[in-house]
Amino acid sequence: MAAPKEKTLNDLFEDTLKDIFYAEKQIVKNLPKMAKAAQSPALKAGFEKHLAETEVHVERLEQVFVLLGKTPRGKTCDAILGILEEGKSIMEEFKGTVALDAGLAAAAQAVEHYEIARYGTLKTWANQLGLTEAVTLFETTLQEEIATDMALSEVAKAEANVKAA
Ligand SMILES: [Fe+2]
Ligand SMILES: [Fe+2]
Repeated sequence: MAAPKEKTLNDLFEDTLKDIFYAEKQIVKNLPKMAKAAQSPALKAGFEKHLAETEVHVERLEQVFVLLGKTPRGKTCDAILGILEEGKSIMEEFKGTVALDAGLAAAAQAVEHYEIARYGTLKTWANQLGLTEAVTLFETTLQEEIATDMALSEVAKAEANVKAA
């Protein structure tokens, strides 16, 4: 039997790039629903702002594919589908309740944490692979995900969680 083809860090990097590319596109589809569902104007505005940023995240990933000489292509990411599904359940199950915004903020933070994990890993690997331009692109997006996570925490503390208590 032939030995399995040796896979390298480069293969892992490309797989993970496809994973986050798929995930970001799902997030672009989902954020308008989150913004529509949010009751607090601050939370709504936060989702709308992050939608605009997320569209740029997709573009930055496209730039990384170009750097690699590859056509941008996604690969189904079950993790993000599960996280977004949970958010959808909260929208349905807590619709019209005082706890809705707290639930939406928490669901959105789970999305941000997934992205932060992926971009942190991709940045490290891009560094190891000597892909300097990709490192900068990942770092820029990573900082926006971290800022969004912190902003969601603030909104949740200031409004949503107080109302839900
Ligand atoms: Fe993103
Ligand atoms: Fe994000």
